[in-house]
Amino acid sequence: MEATAATNALSAPAREFLGRAGRHLIGGEWVESAGGAVFETIDPATGEAIAEVAHGGPEDVDRAVRAAREAFEGPWGGVSPSKRTGMIWALAEQIKANLPELAELEALDNGKPVTYAKGDMAAAVNHLRYFAGWPTKIEGETLPVSFPDAHVYTRKEPVGVCGQIIPWNYPLLMAVWKLAPVLATGCTTVLKPAEQTPLTALRLGELIAEAGIPDGTVNIVTGDGSTGAAIVDHPGVDKIAFTGSTAVGREIGAKCGQQLKRLTLELGGKSPNIILPDADLERAIKGSYAALYENSGQVCSAGSRLFVHSSLHDRVVEGLAEIASTAKVGPGLDEETELGPLVSAEQHERVLGYIDSGTADGAELVAGGKVPEGSNGGYFVEPTLFTGVSDDMAVAREEIFGPVLVAMCFDELEEVAARANDTDYGLAAGVWTHDISSAHRLAAMIRAGNVYINNWGMGDPSAPFGGFKASGIGREKGHANLDAYLETKTVTTRL
Ligand code: NAI
Ligand code: MG
Repeated sequence: MEATAATNALSAPAREFLGRAGRHLIGGEWVESAGGAVFETIDPATGEAIAEVAHGGPEDVDRAVRAAREAFEGPWGGVSPSKRTGMIWALAEQIKANLPELAELEALDNGKPVTYAKGDMAAAVNHLRYFAGWPTKIEGETLPVSFPDAHVYTRKEPVGVCGQIIPWNYPLLMAVWKLAPVLATGCTTVLKPAEQTPLTALRLGELIAEAGIPDGTVNIVTGDGSTGAAIVDHPGVDKIAFTGSTAVGREIGAKCGQQLKRLTLELGGKSPNIILPDADLERAIKGSYAALYENSGQVCSAGSRLFVHSSLHDRVVEGLAEIASTAKVGPGLDEETELGPLVSAEQHERVLGYIDSGTADGAELVAGGKVPEGSNGGYFVEPTLFTGVSDDMAVAREEIFGPVLVAMCFDELEEVAARANDTDYGLAAGVWTHDISSAHRLAAMIRAGNVYINNWGMGDPSAPFGGFKASGIGREKGHANLDAYLETKTVTTRL
């Protein structure tokens, strides 16, 4: 692959990685696709190809699943809980030691500002450190049964071989969210990064070996939706974990239902963010801005429906429009960039389509709305804000997954709770207020997996994350996440 101006400007370790990247990790070996198929991963800041990556098919998936099964029944299955702790911790240390390189690769492949990418890597380190503590604390129970001469206990056993399908918005961090419970519980996995952003997962594959995790425990197969479907369809996979669109999540859910595979889904959202009349205005404006525009709006839990109390509406809109108009839009690798490009031409077109639909439906554009000048083939969109939006417009109902916020007015708490809940989704919600009873009344009324009060998106590895309704099934993070990777076995003995 020819070097580009962006790849030439990378640090030596990142450039060297690009030179060797692009194969699957199967059973500890870096291998090409059985049929030799490849695809290109694109720099979203320019539209140029940056690396050629193996495109996995059913044959590659089958090899990976077998390698995962062999490791599960072989070397990995024999690793003690305490040693697993050491290996997970070692992986966290590897990420920490290679953090600048990983952040550069992420900024190049995904387009996100490199300063934010560093934050993703730090979050990945924390995530692994949290899960590193769990292997030695996965306990069964002794049960006080009511029949005599019996000894009954439960064992928590790893579910087996997992298939894990990763999205492109937080490529390394989402891979780590998936891997951590696999390693903690003693499962093995075939992991597929998104076709838009395969690079950091492949670098992670190298670090997994450095951390001393046995070959075949984590297998990484690159490819697109067809590769993902081959993982879901494979009869040797016991559990699927997926993060991505609700449409694909429904399809995967149906297949897993048919095959009775274990399943967790982290899907889309259209999350309400509510500013009450007594909110700390400056904090609410800054927080609501970040709630949507961070990562260029490509966040499943983005605060994408802003409900502002009528008394504050104009001031909030003015404040948001001002930040939007001064935001520095640019390539992720530029240290000054606040808003990177969208990840792909497909997403660019999709988001611009939503901006057109908002205008056509009669919403009022108060900031952005265009492709910035000088985009030069990059997938940039200005931070965009609509007012005069009604609840039934597509921009207010559908997940846009781009830097497009819709602001609406409300007057009463019950009214805004009902409107907030009038959606298929239920991932996140936000409330800005000093009134503790309103805050907690709303927190209880809103049907969503995560409610943020006077913040948006403050997360911690110990705090479960996931959705109600069409936003998903199950929870990631926290000990709730372990259950998704464990089976309970009840052992009953007649004494
Ligand atoms: P997608 O759901 O098609 O892709 C996500 C992952 O699933 C990728 O790794 C992809 O290769 C894989 N995949 C696609 N089709 C599959 C199938 N039939 N079986 C198994 N795996 C499959 O999402 P896409 O098309 O990239 O983005 C479309 C929309 O999805 C976005 O605009 C956004 O609304 C939403 N999305 C939500 C994410 C989240 O964090 N919840 C992340 C990415 C996208
Ligand atoms: Mg898709």
